[in-house]
Amino acid sequence: MNKLFRKAALLLLALAVLTGCGDKAVKEQEEINDEMTKADEYTTVGFSQLGAESDWRSANTESMLSAFTEEEGYSLIYKNGQQKQSNQITAIRTFIQQEVDYIVLAPATESGWETVLEEARDAQIPVILVDRRVNTSDKNLYSCWVGSDFELEGQKMSAWIKAYTEMKGIAPEDLHIVNIQGSIGSTAQIGRTRGLANAARENGWDLCAEISGDFTETKGREVMAALLKRFDDINVVYCENDNMAIGAIDAIESAGGKVGSDIKNGEVMIVSFDGVNETALEYARSGKISCIAECNPLHGPRVRALIEALKNGETPDKFNYVDEEIFSSVRGVSWISVGNKSYTVKTDF
Ligand code: AHR
Repeated sequence: MNKLFRKAALLLLALAVLTGCGDKAVKEQEEINDEMTKADEYTTVGFSQLGAESDWRSANTESMLSAFTEEEGYSLIYKNGQQKQSNQITAIRTFIQQEVDYIVLAPATESGWETVLEEARDAQIPVILVDRRVNTSDKNLYSCWVGSDFELEGQKMSAWIKAYTEMKGIAPEDLHIVNIQGSIGSTAQIGRTRGLANAARENGWDLCAEISGDFTETKGREVMAALLKRFDDINVVYCENDNMAIGAIDAIESAGGKVGSDIKNGEVMIVSFDGVNETALEYARSGKISCIAECNPLHGPRVRALIEALKNGETPDKFNYVDEEIFSSVRGVSWISVGNKSYTVKTDF
């Protein structure tokens, strides 16, 4: 129901109630008044989240829900896309019908958004992208984006692997790496996969396999178990998020393997991304996970600031990157460099 229809319906209801009598009628009238005020008083934001596949995603949703509160002047309509782009497209169409003031989209994959974003533009509703990106030929189909530099995350992790293995005197050709990828076609997967694939080519590492674990613990476990049957020399597992790393560790240990950074003595080195899940952080502190490249999920306040800027008639930067760190308790690599920038490896986390 759009705002005009909703107002008309509420007025009709108000009249119906007023013809009644007693406390009940008064209470109902108060409730109607409240709802009418809300529609006018708050900035309405439709948020299409892609799903709830990981701890990172839950933290991201929570950050959005707590940033867009009535106290802050917002009324947030939250829709979980359950990992399906079709659900997200339906949600956006519903937001358009509801005449929300802004749409925030956390897209599952990069492709396939052109039509629905054109519909939002025709309805003059600004769209803000969060976390992953969309691949549209017309960049004006969205106002701005906020999220991580996923390729940089992959480059940082690859730089850490290189620095660590060189320090240990391990020859590049003796690194047998498998990449358990995130959901194929998502910006996080594309960037992290590219970061590793380029480094493997440049350094002469043996990248045995790239296979998706869909960012979930269950799939990470399944995929790792299958990889262990296919290859008997895997010594590095690059997991594109912590949930998959937890699943992979479980699969390796169940198969009698040992995880850790002592590759020369047969341990399988696990590296991953996010730094949100407490178990994964604990594993990183104890050395089960050798290194985590942080992916910051706390986008709620950043998205709100972008919407505030749009409300004030400003044009915010198109692409807004968040700063992220790299965590490892393995001794010996205190900093890494990517391009001409160096990053301190954080040991207390
Ligand atoms: O797009 C961000 C990625 O999506 C996170 O790294 C992963 O955990 C999540 O599912």
